[in-house]
Amino acid sequence: MADRTETSDKSQFFNSTGFTPELLERIKKVVPRLYELIEKGIVINHRDLGDIIDCVENGREIYIYTGRGPSNTSLHFGHYLPFYLTKTLQDILDAKVVVQITDDEKYLYSKGGKKPLSLNDYQNMAINNIKDIISFGFDPDRTFIFTNTSFIGSMYETDLKIKRYFTLNQIVHAFGIGMSENVGKASYPTLQMVPCVPKVFDGFIDGKAKCLIPCADDQDVYFRLARDILKKMKVSKPSMIFVNYVPSLQSVEDKMSSSIPSTAIFLNDSNKVISKKINSAFSGGRETVEEHRELGADCAVDVPINILKYFIDREEFTDLWNKYFTGEHLTGFIKKRTVRRLIEVRDEIRERRKDVTDEVMMRFMTLKK
Ligand code: TYM
Repeated sequence: MADRTETSDKSQFFNSTGFTPELLERIKKVVPRLYELIEKGIVINHRDLGDIIDCVENGREIYIYTGRGPSNTSLHFGHYLPFYLTKTLQDILDAKVVVQITDDEKYLYSKGGKKPLSLNDYQNMAINNIKDIISFGFDPDRTFIFTNTSFIGSMYETDLKIKRYFTLNQIVHAFGIGMSENVGKASYPTLQMVPCVPKVFDGFIDGKAKCLIPCADDQDVYFRLARDILKKMKVSKPSMIFVNYVPSLQSVEDKMSSSIPSTAIFLNDSNKVISKKINSAFSGGRETVEEHRELGADCAVDVPINILKYFIDREEFTDLWNKYFTGEHLTGFIKKRTVRRLIEVRDEIRERRKDVTDEVMMRFMTLKK
């Protein structure tokens, strides 16, 4: 085995760009479980998270807003992170959660393919996605899940007010919409900003509650714009907390995405499919065992270990990374561990999903007063 005692595991942690040492100290003191998620690399950035810590310290109400744009009947392991974070934050902050299911979004935005899907197809995917989301263990009394097509009546007034502040030019530039594209692409974005206004959930959420949005940074464009507009509307601007990207099966440089299903492992994939996908994922292992023992794995580009990272504890991860990096562990070992862990995570969701009847779903989809 190569004589390599150096490890690069430090680079795996605290790659969080926007956390100052002062803010990290506050988080560690006030919400230690959140601090652990930052350490683990699940949470990597934020906007105005300090405002939320202020609220926690001063006992001011906050609520959490997140969402999903159905494009498949199942969530994938990338979606797992923001919903896991949201559920964890609900527990530690004792907060209400609203989940927007944009069953209109991909209908307007998807490229269509040979046979474009109907609005009804997206609405059916929404039902399956909602059942997956409930299976993260959200509290039915403190969680409201809504689809845009069903809740539009309650959102319309606020949507109009937000729209009034935007020029077509701003929207077209921010979302890269071409002049020959459908007009829905330009009208949709404000709808994703609407749930940042607590008044929309009147009776369920206090009108002065502060909004916190967990998501990956692909959603930042909506909320950067919303933060500007809400200031003009004299509504307090939302804070954001960003998860890292679970990588695609092909490359750590790309994110796992349902628009390219071969890049993703879905929460409804079978054991066989999970195993097949992980076994064909891009590996940082060397060509031959001898070479691998000599040089060690290139962990930074290895997809399985960079997926596994989010689903095991830090101690195990550091140990696996170091032993893979020095050539002690072979690729097969890392892949096997990843398959086993992903199956366990999927089974936890699957087990809870058995109890998510239509009745349970309706309970989550009713705005509690
Ligand atoms: P959607 O359905 O594309 O993604 C749902 C959530 O998952 C995050 N995400 C990922 N996180 C980690 N690794 C990945 N590979 C990965 N891929 C996606 C997304 O950032 C998102 O948080 N327009 C939204 C729906 C939406 C929304 C919101 C999302 C409406 N309101 C408020 C977040 C917050 C969408 O299509 O998400």
